[in-house]
Amino acid sequence: MTQSPKIKRSLSGIKSTGFPHLGNYLGMIQPAIDLQDDYEAFYFVADLHALTSVRDPKLMLESTHIITSYFLAFGLDVERAAFFRQSDIVDVPTLAWMLSCVTHMGMLERAHSYKAARDEGREKSINHGVFGYPVLMASDILIYDADVVPVGSDQIQHIEMTRDMAVRFNQAFGGEFLKLPEARVRENVATVPGIDGRKMSKSYGNEIQPLLPPKKLRKRIMSIETDSKTMEDPKDPDTCTVFALYSLFADAAELEAMRQNYLGGGYGYGHAKQALFEQMDAHFSPYREEFERLMAAPDHLEAVLARGAERVAPVVSDVMSRVRAATGLPTRR
Ligand code: ADP
Ligand code: TRP
Repeated sequence: MTQSPKIKRSLSGIKSTGFPHLGNYLGMIQPAIDLQDDYEAFYFVADLHALTSVRDPKLMLESTHIITSYFLAFGLDVERAAFFRQSDIVDVPTLAWMLSCVTHMGMLERAHSYKAARDEGREKSINHGVFGYPVLMASDILIYDADVVPVGSDQIQHIEMTRDMAVRFNQAFGGEFLKLPEARVRENVATVPGIDGRKMSKSYGNEIQPLLPPKKLRKRIMSIETDSKTMEDPKDPDTCTVFALYSLFADAAELEAMRQNYLGGGYGYGHAKQALFEQMDAHFSPYREEFERLMAAPDHLEAVLARGAERVAPVVSDVMSRVRAATGLPTRR
């Protein structure tokens, strides 16, 4: 890749655990794609991270293709950006090990994902992959000398831990070997709500998948939970999930019109849901066909992934030479 060294690098990953949902799309996928215009973009399917929970090899492969097709359908330009599989970069677990040797257990015990599992009493069944998740993620980021990391707000803690690990490594070995990255969170979509009003998340089963066929999309939108106000009652737009989701697609005038409808009464949640469906359908329908076309061409997707891995290889080799020399492990070049 012939990029000027002055161009900063944007790096992010998403697990191969099935179809992305609206939170993934608005919080991470689209912001990441938009950064390709101003940054050198490196994005990957986090299949090693997915292994903490996925036990079905077919699902692993299919999800990898789904995520790759999403990025391509929504406009990632692989002439400029690299898109690849995490597991193709075989040095990632090596750097993760190096980082784990400067990372305190205490910090990992504070990670939200681990804490949540422990608080739910699942401590005995948490695998080591879940406990070490932030270390693997730090390796993912630091191995590419990343400048910015586009993510949803739930990943901020992991990026802070990444910075912490980079500082500890640099201090332990006495030099600026690893670059400190910054999280890049798009404000209005930092936490997209799901159909039950909680954060949209696969683990809550409250997702809306953006590329669902229209009938299914409409059905899903109609199942968004609302309060029990009748059609005639005035309603509060600011506590309503339908309104919150509508605000992510509508323009200012449309949003103001819906706000007035809520406040005025005589406007039911069914009307609001229909309006949300129409906005989302109009937004996503142009991408559905392209997504299906890409999914039907697995060889093409594999070629894109292989090319992506090749493109990032020189950066990885550079960083690994630095950290290997720093630690006294033999360098391979
Ligand atoms: P999930 O919580 O459904 O398992 P992931 O952890 O795989 O989602 O998230 C992948 C990316 O999407 C991350 O960058 C994450 O911050 C972002 N993301 C996930 N859920 C949301 C949401 N509800 N709102 C905004 N961003 C989100
Ligand atoms: N942990 C992220 C998630 O659950 C996925 C991920 C893995 C990631 N490695 C990364 C995100 C590196 C950004 C950078 O969504």
